[in-house]
Amino acid sequence: MHESRILEPFRIKCVEPIHLISRSDREERLFAAKLNPFRLRAEDVFIDWLSDSGTGAMSAKQWGALMEGDESYAGSKSFYRLESFVQKLTGMDHFIPTHQGRAGERLLFSTVCKKGDLVLSNGHFDTTRANLEFNGVEALDLTLAENRQSSSIRPFKGDIDLVQVRQILQSEAERIPFGMISITNNTGGGQPVSMANLREYSALLKSFGKPLIMDICRFAENAMFIKLREKEYANTPVREICREIFSYADGCIMSAKKDGMVNIGGFIVLRSNEWVDELKSLLILTEGFPTYGGLAGRDLEAMAVGLEEGMDEDYLRYRLSCTAYFGDKLDAAGVSYVKPAGGHAIYLDARKMLPNIPVEHYPAWALCIALYVEGGIRGLEIGSVGYGKRLDDGTETYYSAELVRLAFPRRVYTQSHMDYAVEVIAEVKEKASEMRGLRITRQTRLLRHFTAEFDWV
Ligand code: F0G
Repeated sequence: MHESRILEPFRIKCVEPIHLISRSDREERLFAAKLNPFRLRAEDVFIDWLSDSGTGAMSAKQWGALMEGDESYAGSKSFYRLESFVQKLTGMDHFIPTHQGRAGERLLFSTVCKKGDLVLSNGHFDTTRANLEFNGVEALDLTLAENRQSSSIRPFKGDIDLVQVRQILQSEAERIPFGMISITNNTGGGQPVSMANLREYSALLKSFGKPLIMDICRFAENAMFIKLREKEYANTPVREICREIFSYADGCIMSAKKDGMVNIGGFIVLRSNEWVDELKSLLILTEGFPTYGGLAGRDLEAMAVGLEEGMDEDYLRYRLSCTAYFGDKLDAAGVSYVKPAGGHAIYLDARKMLPNIPVEHYPAWALCIALYVEGGIRGLEIGSVGYGKRLDDGTETYYSAELVRLAFPRRVYTQSHMDYAVEVIAEVKEKASEMRGLRITRQTRLLRHFTAEFDWV
């Protein structure tokens, strides 16, 4: 999809001012934040593309629905409304609300997995991987080698490598409690998974007696990609595509902060009742009663409306045209990124942009910092800080890619913000040869990128 402009299918009813503080102030704030963008105050950021999670704008209809929230401790009307919506959409009976995606991950993995288990996916998100590893489970990402090349343009670079899946199922079946797949594949560039791949993966798992758990944060964006790129779906409504996607799953984990269009919320949905009692007990213990799952009744209402709006085809066309537009502008500026443009984000290729910074000095982190200093833009490193590790013997592991993700909140920024950002990125590219890398001066063992402190090398 190539667009010469973005046509927003909404008008703006409520605004939130943002400011570009001066360059010297930005440098000062970054220094105080120990060169870690996660430690910046959001008010010091001009364009905040750190995450598309929970950062979207709710619609007038969603704000209206908030007032309908039933805040009863047990048996809230809002719960039953959302439950029946999700049951109809997914075709699954057992609906468990959670306050966000990772709460569902923790509940499911600690209920179903045991130490030494192995879980396959096209790409585990950082919290998914961390929650598995926390339970002593090995998390394996199995994308196709040709899809890992950032410059290769293929329609479904989120597909899982079924040849590898089969081999591992043959040799390690007893360690595998279920298979997973993320739609779209966030760590792999926001790339979609094809219906054909979902169908075959599901059948392959079934032939080994293993359930498929889908991570469906961005299911609607994935469905729209299927409509646009998988020929036989060109005339199928997105909602029907979604239903077919879910028909291949035995369960799903959802962070509704993405395609659910809400600022907080999530759920687990399951076809069989096998794990449900145990999940609900744990939910009561740590999240809340099963008819609110750690959310307010009003959050459940907003989610029901948001899920519906997230599947609107005018909205989805607009949504995917944002990244396509941004990608085309980067092409014109000669900037490398993961191609084709993803659904929710653009992933700049820091290795190509900053070839003089070795991986040991975290080029993607350096690029992230440069975008803030140059233009007040905050992105997310998906590289060796976030996905590498310091081992007990003091040595480091490095990630296979060095990317900076610019994730676009839903219905928030306009084409002008994107034009500005591309100018900033082009300026950073001009200065690439002067840039330095970083070293970590302080870090935690798990998810170190959120809190680590840095210094220039
Ligand atoms: N799975 C995927 C694919 C995700 O992208 C996320 C969150 C989660 C699970 C966890 O959901 O945040 O509600 O607990 N991704 C956000 C991001 C944080 O910026 O990509 P959560």
